[in-house]
Amino acid sequence: MEELVKKAQQLAEFLKKEEEILIVTHIDADGITSGAIAYRSLERAGKDVEIRFVKSLDESEIEKIADENIFVWFTDLGSGQIGAIKERISDFIVSDHHVPDAITDNQLNPHIFGYDGSYELSGSTTTYLVARVLGLNHDLVSTAIVGAVGDLQDSNYGRLVGLNRKVLREGEANGFIEARKDIRFFGKQTRPVFKMLEYTFDPYLPGISGNENGAVEFLNSINIRLKNGDNWLRWIDLTAEEKKRITSEIIKILIANNYPFSLIMRMVGESYILLDEPEGTELRDAMEFSTLLNATARYGQEEVGLAVCLGDRGEGYRRAKSLLQNHRRNLSDGLRLVDEIGIVELENIQYFHAGKKILDTIIGIVAGMSYSFANRNKPVIAFAENEDGIKVSARATKDLVEKGVHLAQAIKLAAERVGGAGGGHSIAAGATIPKGSEDEFLRILDRIVGEQLLS
Ligand code: C5P
Ligand code: C5P
Ligand code: ZN
Repeated sequence: MEELVKKAQQLAEFLKKEEEILIVTHIDADGITSGAIAYRSLERAGKDVEIRFVKSLDESEIEKIADENIFVWFTDLGSGQIGAIKERISDFIVSDHHVPDAITDNQLNPHIFGYDGSYELSGSTTTYLVARVLGLNHDLVSTAIVGAVGDLQDSNYGRLVGLNRKVLREGEANGFIEARKDIRFFGKQTRPVFKMLEYTFDPYLPGISGNENGAVEFLNSINIRLKNGDNWLRWIDLTAEEKKRITSEIIKILIANNYPFSLIMRMVGESYILLDEPEGTELRDAMEFSTLLNATARYGQEEVGLAVCLGDRGEGYRRAKSLLQNHRRNLSDGLRLVDEIGIVELENIQYFHAGKKILDTIIGIVAGMSYSFANRNKPVIAFAENEDGIKVSARATKDLVEKGVHLAQAIKLAAERVGGAGGGHSIAAGATIPKGSEDEFLRILDRIVGEQLLS
């Protein structure tokens, strides 16, 4: 940790010397929160700041940024393209957690210090390390944790670990955030309990997921009140005993359905509560907050998510909530589509091709969710068509990574072989490849993953 703090201090010194800074960040929850942390900390330091969101940092994007002749702070991206950036941009720093393609002095990245950026430090927590030495920015820790949760960095163990945990502890000590042991379902703050259960797909709850009657009957069968007077009860309205009863009954169902113990363990882990946010809102729980952000950025409305992170509780917040309805619908439609078209298994991988039916910006989320019914022994590869060609999203499980699978390396190699480009993390990676090259890409990738499993 000390080494990272030292590097963060160096980067903060670079920033202090500049007057005008352009932040370039990624269009997802981790990217928005990283951008918001960088933005707020620079604003407080009296800098003239601008922020730009990009889907990915390709050559043409780097070219455009270079043309502005301004000092750049890349957050939640940049490490995978350090070579290309260096060729065109002379003054910049990077705080990122993607697998770096080169080690440079102006880069804070957990991988360089022997940590894994897919679960030990996110773009947002990496960026927070810079912000906290740039000035009095300890309050930005909540935003940092929202980003880490948005990148599913807590999903391996059901809680944040590694350096993320150190950041969390600091936030707890300063009274901004609290880790609570609780069921890790989405919607504990905002949805009636039966709806929360009906919309839980990770894990898939037999007889309950996607089944409103099933969810209601389940609660009735274990004597859980659905309403208090006219009000639907949310998870946060239940007593500790009621929550415990529901949790243990769900565990019984999962055991009866032979779910692996590790998966059950992950289901009851930690939730992160933002203590300064009102109870019963999407902003109170890091998991709900990060989904709200994804609902903006993945639909080209990243400014809305950024505004919410920077404190907008008026028009921006209202807009984000309505985008969230749309996002939820798209995810459940996407998952239904995958179930309909089916997942094709090859020797070492499995895939589905959504064509234009799932947006390229949410195909990765759907790929991850498809593990609720896909084979957990093979990585899931998903294709979606966009204006640049074919967007590839790949997801693995922690078990597969422990067996040697490294998706970022495999996807990068396979994409380059068919004239595309990609990268990411061991457990989650992506690429863009030319239309029509999917079959060859799959053949190459299947072989590489096979080799990774052998070595
Ligand atoms: O670009 P970025 O690093 O923000 O994206 C990380 C992606 O990796 C997220 O979309 C997240 O869903 C995925 N991920 C995952 N499982 C993990 C860690 C990350 O699916 N354990
Ligand atoms: O887009 P998706 O969520 O599938 O991305 C998974 C991971 O792969 C992210 O960390 C993302 O930044 C990375 N990625 C990449 N190059 C691409 C596409 C995605 O490095 N062309
Ligand atoms: Zn990230």
